[in-house]
Amino acid sequence: MSLTSRERLIAAAREARLQACARYSGFQVGAALEDAEGRIFAGVNVESSSYGLTCCAERTALFTALTHGAREFRAIAVATDTERLTPPCGACRQVLWDYCGDIEVILANLSGATEIHSLAELLPNAFDDENLR
Ligand code: THU
Repeated sequence: MSLTSRERLIAAAREARLQACARYSGFQVGAALEDAEGRIFAGVNVESSSYGLTCCAERTALFTALTHGAREFRAIAVATDTERLTPPCGACRQVLWDYCGDIEVILANLSGATEIHSLAELLPNAFDDENLR
């Protein structure tokens, strides 16, 4: 991905973060997922009083993208207001792997720090549909 595409995706994740529904944890997360056509789908964390029902920003972005018919993906950016950058949780890594494969995972905060990982690096030896055959 070009630097400009990454910056655009990070900006979308930071902007989405402002809509996070994080009333229990106060931990606001924004995500932006880019598909193969360059379309960007944003998501935020949506928390529930029954905590386990919470949906992370990454899965919200993915489910929105899938709802709009997107099926091939390039990268996801995750933005939080923390010094230590926030990687996707284990559940999101699995679902992202299932639907996106080995995409680029860009972590960013609001102060300009960024990190780039591959999803395969974050979820080595992943379980997926190949294991179901
Ligand atoms: N969260 C995300 O949305 N994405 C992550 O990568 C880590 C965690 C959310 C879930 C919950 O609403 C809050 O952050 C605290 O865990």
